[in-house]
Amino acid sequence: MTFKKNILCIGAGYVGGPTMAMIAYKCPQYRVTVVDVNPDRIAAWNSDDIPIYEPGLDELVAATRGRNLFFSTDIETGIRENDIIFVSVNTPTKAFGLGAGMAADLQHWEKTARQILEYSQSSKIVIEKSTLPVKTALAMERILNCRENGICFDVLSNPEFLAEGSAIRDLELPDRILIGSRETERGLKARQSLAEIYANWVSEEKIITSNIWSSELSKLVSNAFLAQRISSINAISALCEKAEADVTEVARAVGMDSRIGSKFLNASIGFGGSCFKKDILNLVYLCRHYGLEEVADYWDSVVRINDYQQERFIRNMLAAMFNTLAGKRICLWGFAFKSNTGDTRESPAIFVARRLIEERAEIVVSDPKALKNARLDLAGLGSKVDYVEEAARAAEGCHAIALLTEWDLYRHLDFQAIFDSMSKPAFIFDGRNILDHRRCFDIGFNVYPVGKPPLTHF
Ligand code: UDX
Repeated sequence: MTFKKNILCIGAGYVGGPTMAMIAYKCPQYRVTVVDVNPDRIAAWNSDDIPIYEPGLDELVAATRGRNLFFSTDIETGIRENDIIFVSVNTPTKAFGLGAGMAADLQHWEKTARQILEYSQSSKIVIEKSTLPVKTALAMERILNCRENGICFDVLSNPEFLAEGSAIRDLELPDRILIGSRETERGLKARQSLAEIYANWVSEEKIITSNIWSSELSKLVSNAFLAQRISSINAISALCEKAEADVTEVARAVGMDSRIGSKFLNASIGFGGSCFKKDILNLVYLCRHYGLEEVADYWDSVVRINDYQQERFIRNMLAAMFNTLAGKRICLWGFAFKSNTGDTRESPAIFVARRLIEERAEIVVSDPKALKNARLDLAGLGSKVDYVEEAARAAEGCHAIALLTEWDLYRHLDFQAIFDSMSKPAFIFDGRNILDHRRCFDIGFNVYPVGKPPLTHF
């Protein structure tokens, strides 16, 4: 069978995998291949146990794999046989050298660009899909256009805005698709070619275009704005706890102003995930690079409040539990950075677990999807960590429960039975404000929500 377009994605992670599955699903006339350097990951994509937990993804893969969606480790053939190449490799924060802890580590990106250059035998459209620092496309172009053999590369920026846990819905019904390109004749043609792919299921007015730098920057700024809302409400949650106000009531009243809106105003233990912190630090680095110290400090404070919120959670636990956690057994409900994912990257739970161990507590980690990652994150913390998948069983014999991920299942447990099985006085620290606090209090728990007065029996 001949396909109308042959599309490659380099990088089979949280963005590449689901995005390509959606394209393959919506466009049976295109052949979509996903390649990755990691053979285990590719083997998993080709098995019944795909490497990412994402609601609805199994079904998409089942419908398309082997039909027009293929997973392979053969990057060379992939590059040779496809004209449209998405690059979705990871760009973690740099851990070494200049910009360590702030700038993006672009080594995988550069390696990928060099592979594209080496194996290409015809012109290609190369699409940045990873979140990248502004002007990465320029670096990409410089690498890709350094040969003069008639093969041309058009670099586009097409940031992905999907959120984990709702990736399939976000891909199917995106708020917008953004395509940045050079404003040259070639650039505009490449832009059109990519827009055609999305037009198979996204309405025209949602496909917007811009220059390439605006597109790259928009992704960083979107994430910075979202994270800023969380840090804003979390900062207010600290004030609410002192002022005996209720942050949920404040957020509701504030969010009903249509200019502000109600989303992303849930006070919590802090944001996690692979994007927010990394992208803000990137933005801060960029501002400092241009000498914009005040702007850099402004965005940096979003990350600082997030760190503060996590440390505050531990301090509240300490204060509530008579200033010592040593020898106490504390159950963590949830380890993923949010519900409906097994992803634990930058999860506040990692910080909480480490701090509790520092305070010499014993911890029991529980999560319906993230225990495998939790074990990796906490490797080396020794025998003071137990892993128990089932929430009620994890709490048995514990002095306190710290709810860290907003999994729906935690709302529907038998709290009387859980209370009966715990050491007394029993505490609940609800880092997501999802439990029925009054009911837990009536059962006998001492309840500490975020940004609300605690309900205690003392
Ligand atoms: C985010 C962006 O939403 C997405 O557009 C971008 O493409 C990638 O980064 P993601 O990190 O998957 O997506 O999850 P998101 O739903 O944004 O949540 C991020 C963190 O903020 C989670 O830890 C979440 O629990 C927390 N959060 C979110 C809050 O604490 N309060 C809120 O009100 C909302």
